[in-house]
Amino acid sequence: MNEQQRKQTDQIKQVAPSDLKSETDTNLDRLKQLDSDELIGKYFQATYEPPNLKKARKRLKKTADVHYDFGIPEEMNTLGKGKKFLIRTYGCQMNEHDTEIMAGILTNMGYESTDNTNDADIILLNTCAIRENAENKVFGEIGHLKPLKLEKPDLIVGVCGCMSQEEAVVNRILKKHPFIDMIFGTHNIHRLPALLNEAMLSKEMVVEVWSQEGDIIENLPKVRKGKIKGWVNIMYGCDKFCTYCIVPYTRGKERSRRPEDIIQEVRHLAAQGYQEITLLGQNVNAYGKDLDIEYGLGDLMEEISKIDIPRVRFTTSHPRDFDDRLIEVLAKGGNLLDHIHLPVQSGSSEVLRVMARRYTREDYLELVRKIRTAMPNATLTTDIIVGFPNETDEQFEETLSLVEKVGFESAYTFIYSPREGTPAAKWEDNIPMEVKKERLQRLNALVNKQSAEAMKQYQGQTVKVLVEGESKKDPDVLSGYTERNKLVNFVGPKSIIGQIVEVKINQTKTWTLDGELVEQAVEVK
Ligand code: 5AD
Ligand code: SF4
Repeated sequence: MNEQQRKQTDQIKQVAPSDLKSETDTNLDRLKQLDSDELIGKYFQATYEPPNLKKARKRLKKTADVHYDFGIPEEMNTLGKGKKFLIRTYGCQMNEHDTEIMAGILTNMGYESTDNTNDADIILLNTCAIRENAENKVFGEIGHLKPLKLEKPDLIVGVCGCMSQEEAVVNRILKKHPFIDMIFGTHNIHRLPALLNEAMLSKEMVVEVWSQEGDIIENLPKVRKGKIKGWVNIMYGCDKFCTYCIVPYTRGKERSRRPEDIIQEVRHLAAQGYQEITLLGQNVNAYGKDLDIEYGLGDLMEEISKIDIPRVRFTTSHPRDFDDRLIEVLAKGGNLLDHIHLPVQSGSSEVLRVMARRYTREDYLELVRKIRTAMPNATLTTDIIVGFPNETDEQFEETLSLVEKVGFESAYTFIYSPREGTPAAKWEDNIPMEVKKERLQRLNALVNKQSAEAMKQYQGQTVKVLVEGESKKDPDVLSGYTERNKLVNFVGPKSIIGQIVEVKINQTKTWTLDGELVEQAVEVK
C-alpha cells in the first residue's frame, strides 16, 4: 500500500464508538433519515477520491510492487463462524477467479458458502462493466436485494468488481441505493476482512476504491470452483486503451506476476490432480513487458509446458503483441493446446485505427497465416464489435469477409456499447439500433454456419474429452471439452468424471458434438 492509499484508507475508517450497530437505531433507520446528498456530503466528500479516468491514462510504466505477506488478522479469523456468504459473479473469467479468491478469504474467516439468498449473512455482487447491459443487470439485482436488506438489517450487501471502479456507478449507489453496506474495487480484494469488519460496525457505507494502478498481492487464499480445471492469473490490468474499452480504467495498469510465482501455482495445481489450467490476463501477450527481466509469454509457456498437467490454455490474446517466439513454443504442442482466442474486433483497417487496436486487417491476416503455418490444425476464435461509431456498411462487409477468410470456428459478437470515460463515448453513437441488430444477426448467421461446418469434420472421428460432469440438460449424459474446446455429450459412468477419455463422434450439431465412449481413461493422473 502506498502513502496515498494508506491515507485514504485511514480516512475511510472513521467509525466513532457511538456509531456501533449494537445501538437501537440500525444502519437503515439512520440512512433513511438522511437525504442522499447530505449522506454523500457528510461521509464521503472529504474521504473518498473517485477513480480518475484521466489520471489512469497518464500512469507510469513501472514494475509493480509484489506483496507476499497477506494474512487475516487474528481477531477476524472467527468473524464468520456460523455465518454464510453468497457471491454473485458477472462477466469474464477474471471475475470468476476473483470470486474464488474472495470465497477463499471468507472461508478463512469462518464463513460457509450458500446458494440461497435467504440464508446469506453476506451477499457480494462481483460486477462487470464491459457493456451497459452488464451494468443494468447488476442494478436490477441491487433493486431486488433491497426488500431483503430491509427485512434483515444485519445482512451485509457489498458491490465489488469492475463497476465499483467507475465514478458514475459509485455516485449512483451512494445516491440511490444507500442500503448497500460496502463498495470496494478490483485492487482492494485483499482488504475484504478489514472492510467487512468496518461495514459490520459502522452505520455508513464503507467505500474503498483506489484509482491507483494496483500492486500484486501474492498469497491470497482461494476456494476454486472445481477440481478439474483451474484458472491462474499471469498478469493484471491492461495498457492498450482501445478507445471503446473500460478495462484499462477498471483493472489498472498492466502488471505481470513473477514467473516463479506462476510456475509454483501451476505445479501446485498439477500436484492436486487438476487436468487443465487456463492462464489469465486481459492482454496476456503483453506478459513480462513490465518485469525487470527479459521474459515474455513464450518463455513462460515453454516452462509451463514442462509441468505435468495435461492441458494448458491461455486467454485473452491481443494480436499486436502476439510474437514469433510464442508461435514457436505453441507449435511444439504437448500440453499447450492449439486453440487460440484472438479478438479481432473488426475486419476494417479504418475501424481498427479508430478503435486504436494498433494493427490493420492485413497485419491480422498475416498473423493468422503465421499461426496456421506453424500450427495447421489450430482452432481460431475471436471477439467482434458491430456498430462502432461511423462504421459503414462497407466496413461491416469487411468484417464478414475477414470472418470467412480466417475461418473462425466461433466468435463472441457484441453490439457497441458506449462506456463513460472512454474516448469513443465522446463520439456520436450514430449507428441506429436496428442497423446494429441487423449487422449482429448477419454476423451471427455466418459464425453459426462456420461453426456447424467445423463441427461436421468431426463426424466419425475419435476425440479426447476432459470429462467435466453431467450435462446441464440430462443427468444421464456426461459432457466435457475437446482439446480444441468443442463441447461433447456422451453416455458413460460417473467414475470417469475428471479424466481424459476417448469419445467417437456420431452426431454433429452447430455448437456441440454427440458421441460414444471408446476407451476409458487414456490419461489418468
Ligand atoms: N462495447 C461492446 N463490446 C465491447 N467489448 C469491450 N468493450 C466493449 C464495448 N464498449 C468487447 C470486446 C472485447 C470483449 C471482452 O468485449 O470485443 O474483446
Ligand atoms: Fe480492452 Fe482488451 Fe483493448 Fe485492453 S486490449 S483495452 S482489455 S479490448
